[in-house]
Amino acid sequence: MPHDPVPGLLSRATELLEKQFAALPAFESAADTSAMVRVLEDVARRMGDSYPFFHPLYAGQMLKPPHPVARAAYALAMTLNPNNHARDGGRASSEMEIEAVQGIAGIFGWTEFLGHLTSSGTLANLEALWVAGQLAPDKRIVGSEQAHYTHRRISAVLKLEYASIAADYRGRMSVPALETELRKGDVGTVVVTLGTTALGAVDPLDEVLALREKYNFRVHVDAAYGGYFRLISLAEPAQRAFAVIDQADSIVIDPHKHGLQPYGCGCVLFRDPSVGRFYKHDSPYTYFTSKQLHLHPSEQKSLAGDPVHLGEISLECSRAGASAVALWATQQLLPLVPGGEFARGLALGRSAALDLDRRLREDRTGRFQPLAVGAPELDIVVWKMNAKTPELSSELAQRIFTACAARDLHLALVQLPLAWFEPVSESESVIAVETVTCLRSVLMKPEHEVWMDSIWERLTASCAEVMREYRS
Ligand SMILES: Cc1ncc(COP(=O)(O)O)c(C=O)c1O
Repeated sequence: MPHDPVPGLLSRATELLEKQFAALPAFESAADTSAMVRVLEDVARRMGDSYPFFHPLYAGQMLKPPHPVARAAYALAMTLNPNNHARDGGRASSEMEIEAVQGIAGIFGWTEFLGHLTSSGTLANLEALWVAGQLAPDKRIVGSEQAHYTHRRISAVLKLEYASIAADYRGRMSVPALETELRKGDVGTVVVTLGTTALGAVDPLDEVLALREKYNFRVHVDAAYGGYFRLISLAEPAQRAFAVIDQADSIVIDPHKHGLQPYGCGCVLFRDPSVGRFYKHDSPYTYFTSKQLHLHPSEQKSLAGDPVHLGEISLECSRAGASAVALWATQQLLPLVPGGEFARGLALGRSAALDLDRRLREDRTGRFQPLAVGAPELDIVVWKMNAKTPELSSELAQRIFTACAARDLHLALVQLPLAWFEPVSESESVIAVETVTCLRSVLMKPEHEVWMDSIWERLTASCAEVMREYRS
């Protein structure tokens, strides 16, 4: 288990924080502490029934352990439990949120923008689509069929019509299929995913932006998973897509995915700060301080220096200030710059993914079938098992998944179109009818790179065992 790497890290900082409140009269806490030890031991026993997400042999779903400094800063902030809805609930933590969000916007080269943290990527996307709907209430939202499933649901909640665009053989939005929809003249917003959930595929943002010139729609980039990859070099065409992310109208990125944060930390950014006018509400409980934000853009002067309550620019009310504190601390330690330690960590996971993909392709037994076209664009690897029928292939994947888990190697399963594994021309899109269960590995941890021999050994031993059972 990842114990605190610096002994006394949290207790020293807690002492420092407590000193600043030492002038207050002492008081007895109303909490009955007598049963706490027993209850916490019960918690530890219950929590043992979890996958070991912190370990490099956990290589399944999108789960990345928070950085130790994020865990410590979160715990420290919990002694106060700030609420970042408004400065009345979290004075210091609101400032830290504003600074941390500036750091995130800096990844995309944005300095003047509107943005804040959210409880999740889903809520961040909801805000982006809500703003899109305020600007074009009668127009449709479209996204690739590989876009996160919540976009359709969010659109339904917002009473906006949503349509799926076919994906190509690498899981990227098909541009010809998108243009067919655009020609209908009623598309208000295109959701472009940079890093899909299943494959880590990168939609061709550069080509979508070229279409925006012709068809005039809003571009929302869902980079909940992939956003931080803007900091490292990728292969083409993903590199081209990330290079123009600053031209999006809105961007979602999840610090609780690749940003080393505890859950409860998404982020939404808008290129045009004047969309703040849509957030005007009439709560009598919190104190509005911005004189500019809710004015029409024609009446707004610069927002710089205009103190904003985060609740004035977000749909959620209460939100964990501790999330902002943890993020701020992490970004102090690991600045979000190309070539820095944070970026190196991302590059190591990606290099592990390329290594696993190469081993699968070069395996001489022919039992593995990676995607027909191309290596992983980010750090997610998928493959199907070679078998006579899709049903048998799916069954093998399921059994290997279980056999790997018995060897402490935790992978994931995903349903993908069968056609993606057949030889094809790269630009074609697919009407995905038949699917097959595939194995999937999200290699998010820097440690995965040095653990690849061990991962490979356990995977191949599990395959051999399952194949033996089939033959006998
Ligand atoms: C591309 C993408 N968008 C949105 C989401 C939803 O984010 P959250 O789980 O933080 O709500 C995910 C989650 O996996 C995702 O991969």
